[in-house]
Amino acid sequence: MTRLVVVADDHEGGELAAEIIADQVEANAASVLGIATGTTPLTTWAALAEHGLDLSGVDAFALDEYVGLPQGHPESFESVVHREVVVPLGLDPTRVRVPVSHGVDPHLAAAGYEQSILEAGGIDLQILGIGRNGHLAFNEPGSTLESLTRVAPLNAETREDNARFFSSVDEVPTECITQGLGTISRARTLILLAFGSHKAQALAAALEGPIGVQMPASIIRSHPDAVVIADRQAAALFGTTGADRLASA
Ligand code: PGA
Repeated sequence: MTRLVVVADDHEGGELAAEIIADQVEANAASVLGIATGTTPLTTWAALAEHGLDLSGVDAFALDEYVGLPQGHPESFESVVHREVVVPLGLDPTRVRVPVSHGVDPHLAAAGYEQSILEAGGIDLQILGIGRNGHLAFNEPGSTLESLTRVAPLNAETREDNARFFSSVDEVPTECITQGLGTISRARTLILLAFGSHKAQALAAALEGPIGVQMPASIIRSHPDAVVIADRQAAALFGTTGADRLASA
């Protein structure tokens, strides 16, 4: 079942997501967490850091990574995850994986990453953002619902959105390795975060439109344990049907 919780802002949303993560880790100190990058989860990491929880026994897998950036590039997700998640939260860096392809055929790296998730016992709790076009991780519209970790193209809108992290859009890679929609669906719990009016259209389509390949984030409605945490702006176009509204701030 998909639950929707509408919060006042991204800080309240981050606190709620951090509480769910903390409950998971308190129940199992060796939990496997799925990490999203981007702006959306930043308030979650900040709130989780405030908890002061010992996260050193946690395994973590990032959702995606660019293909083609040099190792150590500050905007590679390997660098971003280290800077924004591993260090502030005190994760053990040897237990945190990002689907990098340094010196390796990216297709092989992608298949190996999928295998690593399986070998870790699967992801217990996956944090997700949503793209303006409804993408989930870097699964752009058209990605199959069963897709696994793979090399995938980044579409123009996504590259434009991510150009803010680079000096120009031309520097944004054109390919990535991303967990697939099938991979994400296998995580035992999903938390989808959406903050800001620029996410409203995609969120409404994901929660109320058809479930299918044209709206990757719609797959969360087929998941047995998914919660959507959206601020009022992101939830503005959401009607009264669709996911159950659990709470409204
Ligand atoms: P954002 O990205 O958190 O930076 O908005 C989310 C996404 O594109 O999935």
